[in-house]
Amino acid sequence: MKLLALLPALMASSCFAAPPHTSTPLAQTSTITAAGGQYTVPIHDLQGAPRLPNIHDPEAVNAQERCPGYVAKNVKTYSTGLTAQLTLAGPACDVYGNDVHHLDLLVEYQTKERLHISIQPSYLSAHNESWFLLPGEYVAAPSQEDGEMATADLAFCWANTAESGFVFDVIRRATGDILFSTRGTKLVFEDQFIELVTQQEDNYNLYGLGEVIHGLRLGTNLSRTFYAADIASPVDLNIYGDHPFYLQTKYFEVSGEDAVATLVTETVNTTNTAANYTSFTHGLYFRNSHGMEILMQPNNVTWRTLGGSIDLSFFSGPTQPDVTHQYLDVIGRPAMQTYWSFGFHQCRWGYDSWAGTEEVVDNYAKFGIPLETIWNDIEYMNQYRNFENDPVWFSYAEGRAFLERLHERGQHYVPIVDSAIYAGNPYNESDAYPTFTRGNETGSFILNPDGSLYIGAVWPGYTVFPDWFTESAKSWWKDELASYMQKLPIDGVWIDMSEVSSFCTGSCGTDMLQYNPVKYPFGIPGDPLFKVYDYPEGFNLTNATEAGPAAAAGEAQAVALAKLISELEGDVPSSVSYVRTTPTPGVRNVNYPPYVINNVQGDLASHAVSPNATHHNGIQEYDVHNLFGHQIVEATYGALTAIRPEKRPFIIGRSTFPGSGAVAGHWGGDNMSKFSYMYYSIPQALSMSLFGIPMFGADTCGFGGNSDEELCNRWMQLSAFFPFYRNHNTRSAFPQEAYVWSSVIDATKKAMDARFRLLPYLYTLFHKAHTQGDTVMRALAWEFPNDPSLAGADRQFFLGPSILVTPVLEQGATTVNGVFPGLVEGTDLYYDWFSKTPVAVPSEKNTTIEAPLGHIPVYIRGGAVLATQEMAMTTRDARTTPWSIIVAPGVDGKAEGELYLDDGESLNPNATKMVTMSYANGTLNVSVSGTYSGLDLPLANITILGVQEKPSCSEVRINAEIVGSSHYDACSKTLSIHGLQGALGGKAWGANWTLS
Ligand code: NOJ
Repeated sequence: MKLLALLPALMASSCFAAPPHTSTPLAQTSTITAAGGQYTVPIHDLQGAPRLPNIHDPEAVNAQERCPGYVAKNVKTYSTGLTAQLTLAGPACDVYGNDVHHLDLLVEYQTKERLHISIQPSYLSAHNESWFLLPGEYVAAPSQEDGEMATADLAFCWANTAESGFVFDVIRRATGDILFSTRGTKLVFEDQFIELVTQQEDNYNLYGLGEVIHGLRLGTNLSRTFYAADIASPVDLNIYGDHPFYLQTKYFEVSGEDAVATLVTETVNTTNTAANYTSFTHGLYFRNSHGMEILMQPNNVTWRTLGGSIDLSFFSGPTQPDVTHQYLDVIGRPAMQTYWSFGFHQCRWGYDSWAGTEEVVDNYAKFGIPLETIWNDIEYMNQYRNFENDPVWFSYAEGRAFLERLHERGQHYVPIVDSAIYAGNPYNESDAYPTFTRGNETGSFILNPDGSLYIGAVWPGYTVFPDWFTESAKSWWKDELASYMQKLPIDGVWIDMSEVSSFCTGSCGTDMLQYNPVKYPFGIPGDPLFKVYDYPEGFNLTNATEAGPAAAAGEAQAVALAKLISELEGDVPSSVSYVRTTPTPGVRNVNYPPYVINNVQGDLASHAVSPNATHHNGIQEYDVHNLFGHQIVEATYGALTAIRPEKRPFIIGRSTFPGSGAVAGHWGGDNMSKFSYMYYSIPQALSMSLFGIPMFGADTCGFGGNSDEELCNRWMQLSAFFPFYRNHNTRSAFPQEAYVWSSVIDATKKAMDARFRLLPYLYTLFHKAHTQGDTVMRALAWEFPNDPSLAGADRQFFLGPSILVTPVLEQGATTVNGVFPGLVEGTDLYYDWFSKTPVAVPSEKNTTIEAPLGHIPVYIRGGAVLATQEMAMTTRDARTTPWSIIVAPGVDGKAEGELYLDDGESLNPNATKMVTMSYANGTLNVSVSGTYSGLDLPLANITILGVQEKPSCSEVRINAEIVGSSHYDACSKTLSIHGLQGALGGKAWGANWTLS
């Protein structure tokens, strides 16, 4: 029995035009009443229609067997590329859509490094016109620049073959290596299904294709679905964001006098250091906003999309940094972040009042742990409505006073802002929600196909969703944010639920608003109904006596919960009857496309706005579902720059798409409090580096489930080396702030001390990411491209080029295995961050490192000069501490480094400074360019690492003037120079100088 069917359609479809027909309060008799709440729709209606993903469907048709492929005709070649018409090579197959009979092929050598291939329906193809091409105004499109076929790195080759029709290869000219080949496979192009199959060598190395919880190297047996989903981070399935971009590295073994290069197709063991390798890396961006699937199988990769066009950009590299620069040239380089955003952030779902929130801030101070920013989750809102505070627990007056206290101390405040907007009961004046009214009056919300409002359900009850394709929505959003920021001077915005999530299937609130407010149609963590015993991971190992009864109680509760849910579900049929559809000529079935992607939520309308929801410009949600999260951070960036034009916006968003990094950061949300998720945060961050979103950090200590002392100890230390450092957890879980366990306090301070010292380095890395497209967190393979044994290394990482982090990722471990790339080979040196001693060359490449609880192995890679400041309770105060310099020479005895300085917050700083530092033969040269003087503070110490012998003379000169003497420590092999405060007129970066 479907509940919705019982409810009378009480309102006209354009629901807000109709006058209230009654003033009598409407009884909520039609909702199911259950312990803990009333539901707008029964639980099974939240699931949508049962759909069997094609990749799991034994009856699935193989398009390659049925479809005819295409034949290329009218091929015209130009100096910059070629054009051709592709025509169906036989009768239409119409397997998962209507075949498009005529296609246009456009190949452009857009730059020397970028080859663009576009295949889209031709104007000749009157047969079916229901396709969607992604306009460049919504997602940056690459265009022809100064490239030419004759000088391009990559070549496009094509053929009409007897077996498959039109096929093409993309070849790296320098090596003749085929990077992409559709040979032996057919192009399938239908209005709801496109398939492109490409050949790959054995054991290929692909990276990217996120967002996914998976190792960094994707492997050859993985299906990736691209459909933005509100789901708590399951492994290998689609989650919040979509980045149809991959990086591929091919390793070659070079041997013999003629330096013959042979492609490596086996996994290379870490101990195999004798061979000589080289690598070439390229990238591929498939610009498409539809639901997509990419199947990685041994020897081939299949791309499938539910519509749009084939829009491929190949980037020739040939190194990872090159590919990343080339890709970010198209989608946009990362936003420059404020200096304060690199401080530590504390958040949780469950701070229920200003007083409770401030208590957390006070506790951090009490325990002497630096806290930069405190966050509030949805509790601060008035009944979960954006831009309105709860008048009792989060009053504006109290909030202003609290924020003033925070700001005085150099701290910050960031609240959550949800993507959905409460749609109030139009028959109940007291339920009026002005934010909704203003947005509705300006036509700012997504519609039903009939032009009425699309109304789903999220935390507040029934909700509408901003239509970012309209200018009115952007300006309404800006106005709402502006008036909210006048009430509370918040420092940044945390955008949530932007997939865009809706908890019911379809426009469940259309014609139902008179039943609002109802309790949300789902359980939230913390509801008694949904409370399940949840003992921290490994509880049985450390608390054996209690573990048995605890597990039994948990099991009993889980059984009770399952029973309750099955009672609520009532008449859900026990055997699943899948909804299957077949193509209809000339019509797309957007709600139930014939090809079923392996969406984690099943039905495309489940936990999301329906595919047939319609934008004001006529675009259906089906075609642009993956863009909402990108558009909301863009709109928020536009709003914040309009409200505070001089300040860099700080935005963290959940759902992202290519280009999102240019305006926002992202958090690895809704992970679990488990060691495995702590590990996954590393490949997640490294993938985000490739996607141009370096401002990334996971929910530290874990979001779902209960964390414990050991996990939080390790995780607070690990995240200290991620750009975005935030502790966050779910409502029902145990508190996990850094001060909850004494060992975590110490571990956190130790790691934070390193982080604070490295903040100037991190900030400089962001400057380089912003201006050049460099990465911040880096995989070992990217820094050591000629070592194939590092192809899958993702349990360690580099922060920039010079800091190597090797965290403990296993419960109970007191040591960790890791590699020091280049150390055994003699090309690199490393120094322990904490003791500053050189790392001894191990006998084997993979070595065991001591790492008792509370210690995270961190190393400086030789060749670096680092300018550091000291730890303070906030980054503002840290920026007033004196400078120090660490010189970590490489194997050649030399080192260099850079330091970028500005005021830390201006969108377009009117003064900046770049300091370059280079060291050789006992001399450090510092050269300064730029006029920013705000950080011209005294220089305190200089420490030179890896000095094998005590220098015969301890005299230290700066610019020929004797400024002091050095101290040699034979154990750590460091030479330190202290007491330099008086030198250089007390200004470390006032002018060029030389120290000898
Ligand atoms: C989902 C987000 O991922 C999570 O971080 C947040 O705490 C909840 N929504 C509640 O707002």
